[in-house]
Amino acid sequence: MSSIKAIRGFKDILPDEVGWWQEVERAARRVCRLFGFREIRIPVVERTELFARSIGQDTDIVEKEMYTFPDRNNESLTLRPEATAGIVRSVIENNLAAAGRPLKLYFIGPMFRYERPQKGRQRQFHQFNIEAFNVADPHIDAEIILLLAQFLDRVGVEGVEFNINSLGCQALDCRPKFKKNLQDFLRARQEQLCPDCRRRLEINPLRVLDCKVDRCQDAVKDAPGILDFMCGDCREHFDVVLKAIEQAGVKFTVNPRLVRGLDYYTRTTFEALAGELGAQNAVAGGGRYDGLVKALGGPDIPGLGFAVGLERLIMLLSQQKTLDMSTPALSAAAFDQTTASIGFKVVQEMRSRGVWAEMEYEHASLKSQLRRANKLGSKWVVILGPEELNNHEALLRDMTTGEQKKVPFFPEDTRATVNNIVQVTGIIGDEEDQVD
Ligand code: HAM
Repeated sequence: MSSIKAIRGFKDILPDEVGWWQEVERAARRVCRLFGFREIRIPVVERTELFARSIGQDTDIVEKEMYTFPDRNNESLTLRPEATAGIVRSVIENNLAAAGRPLKLYFIGPMFRYERPQKGRQRQFHQFNIEAFNVADPHIDAEIILLLAQFLDRVGVEGVEFNINSLGCQALDCRPKFKKNLQDFLRARQEQLCPDCRRRLEINPLRVLDCKVDRCQDAVKDAPGILDFMCGDCREHFDVVLKAIEQAGVKFTVNPRLVRGLDYYTRTTFEALAGELGAQNAVAGGGRYDGLVKALGGPDIPGLGFAVGLERLIMLLSQQKTLDMSTPALSAAAFDQTTASIGFKVVQEMRSRGVWAEMEYEHASLKSQLRRANKLGSKWVVILGPEELNNHEALLRDMTTGEQKKVPFFPEDTRATVNNIVQVTGIIGDEEDQVD
């Protein structure tokens, strides 16, 4: 019978890779704590309308990439393609944004987009998301960019560059003016555009700037830039953001072409890019979305955030570093049922003291048990042979140096035996995992 395979674009994260994920998630939680962001967890599935109304009807995500299906009651549901919409929904529904008080949230979880899988692009992928609400001050824009920079620094990834832009606001002398100008520019080049962009040009011309089709990218090469059309307030906001980031020593490039693939952005937008990743080079992206909470039926409060693509970040990390795997502190080698039952108790006592210990269950020769313990990476092996049992002395082998030491051992008193092992080896239990 043929075996069942995972769905195209959906990947297992196997035990050998999972250490990267734990390291990255630990860094994310740690940095969030330092910046005062608290965790929220939202459902995987939402009403389809939520995404259409927030991400935008004419975006690639909503037009082509959503996993949308009717449930048994014929309601249209969608696997979340991103987290911002769901988080905003939750903020509104649970009244989380008390007037005038900043609300700072983070979220880690899987997203789903029906894209063509390739290097750095999957149909199920994971994001680390930050969202902040209720703060209009441009320093918070800088704060989240610096949070991202500190996170990337903490995980130890290199060669990531920041691109920053502003998309202005809805004031007539701001984005609408830019849009009109861009439209005129694009109309003169209609023939060059892909069919999607020819349609988008009339309803949502900014989307054309973000189109991945080569001939559209060629067509927009000399398009006007938004920064030349921004209103005074947006200009001032942008300048404060740039200054604050610069002062913090984070390098960036202002890229007026950066429009992002989602419609909800206003003012500051940014991406973190890594050339080493190839075509799918965006490690993270985000920006301000001041109209979104209101558009989804909530109060008129500002919001902003970003998401890091964890697969891409880990791909980059694993190209640059090797993972420090943790290994057992101790393995017990035994040779028959009597010594095995003593070894079993020793191992169990070690674990209850917070030490990773392993039992060799196959009573093979000492040589092959040592080989296995070595493969596991155990730092010490306690050898419990019949001879040791007779002499009341176990052998402790330091697997790094090959040196062996004798320790008194008491078949009837596991705690005393373990005290001796701990004294000779210096093994200490790990610290409690920190809860964020
Ligand atoms: P996004 O740019 O669509 O933004 O996605 C953010 C990141 O998710 C990308 O930079 C990339 O690293 C990763 N990503 C996206 N699609 C895929 C894929 N198919 N496979 C692997 N990785 C992928 C958002 O999702 C916004 N919600 C970010 C945001 C939060 N803006 C404000 N708050």
